[in-house]
Amino acid sequence: MTHPADTALPVSEAVALKVQYQTRQRNWRGQLSTTTVRAVDGIDLAIRSGEAVALVGESGCGKSTLGRALLRLEHVSEGAVHFAGSDLTGLGEPMLRPLRRNMQMVFQDPFSSLNPRMRIGETLAEPLLVHGLASKAEARARVAEILEIVGLDPAVATRHPHAFSGGQRQRIAIARAVIARPKFVVADEPISALDISVQAQILDLFEDLKERFALTYLFISHDLAVVRHIADRVAVMYLGRIVEEGSPESVFDNPLHPYTQALLAAVPSPDPVRERSRPAATLQGEPPSPAATISGCRFRGRCAHAMPICETSDPALATGGDGKQAVACFLHHEQSF
Ligand SMILES: Nc1ncnc2c1ncn2[C@@H]1O[C@H](COP(=O)(O)OP(=O)(O)OP(=O)(O)O)[C@@H](O)[C@H]1O
Ligand SMILES: [Mg+2]
Repeated sequence: MTHPADTALPVSEAVALKVQYQTRQRNWRGQLSTTTVRAVDGIDLAIRSGEAVALVGESGCGKSTLGRALLRLEHVSEGAVHFAGSDLTGLGEPMLRPLRRNMQMVFQDPFSSLNPRMRIGETLAEPLLVHGLASKAEARARVAEILEIVGLDPAVATRHPHAFSGGQRQRIAIARAVIARPKFVVADEPISALDISVQAQILDLFEDLKERFALTYLFISHDLAVVRHIADRVAVMYLGRIVEEGSPESVFDNPLHPYTQALLAAVPSPDPVRERSRPAATLQGEPPSPAATISGCRFRGRCAHAMPICETSDPALATGGDGKQAVACFLHHEQSF
């Protein structure tokens, strides 16, 4: 399958990316020791212009760290991060600042992402004024325009965040992210803190904005049903790595990686017949700590299909199945045997 975005240049790209955190803790003797948490542990991902890539995986697998690193809101330990052809890896904040209008983030919690002391109009105008993209009068007009686009009355510009519901606040946060017409937006679980009743509306807004502004997204979500609805491509992450990647149809209808299969088996089906035949939780236990050193495949301790090779070799992400998706699993890497 070729997608129109296949030929486009990557807007955002991770190249052999690693992000590690050093954490210090005291042991029972009171001695300090340092542990390395490998939150992102060797990821190659290219997000092309106009594409919505969904990133899924269990809590703690490194999704937010990857999203932040792509925007250089996080340090890079190894590898590289590129944005629209520029290497961002070694850039400090002064060099990143002019690029920031083109790379925006929408956070999960709309209650903490807006400054409670600023009027909505000031919050929304800020990116335009900070980057010198508009005069005050132009900014006012752009604020009214974007409020209408995200489904709010332009008159709300004079009010403060406390006057709004969670869904309305998320509309405002999204308006702030897109008002300066960024090329790339990372949306980190943008609907999971919202009431079920407004989640679909916010998803529709994302789809509308993608068309309207030709936006490129990384959409982080633990809800696979949502991902199917919104993504052009899905990347499944496990313990700091992408273990499967492909179109939503290929990944969801023909999952190759045992981890993807287990994630999908855990999703309740709306169809009662399928729901009755759904395997009981196949994913047992917790993922290992990202501070642990694991030989071979990082999923093997939870995998029902683990083979001897999985103990000694670390499978790379390579084309599997009928060539439509990439998978990091020896069950699908014939050439490895
Ligand atoms: N600033 C930090 N210092 C130390 N460890 C961190 C830091 N930020 C994240 N981590 C650790 O890195 C790992 C990945 O965290 P991250 O927040 O990226 O996961 P996530 O997939 O977004 O999880 P969730 O679904 O819960 O949001 C976790 O083990 C986390 O505890
Ligand atoms: Mg997260």
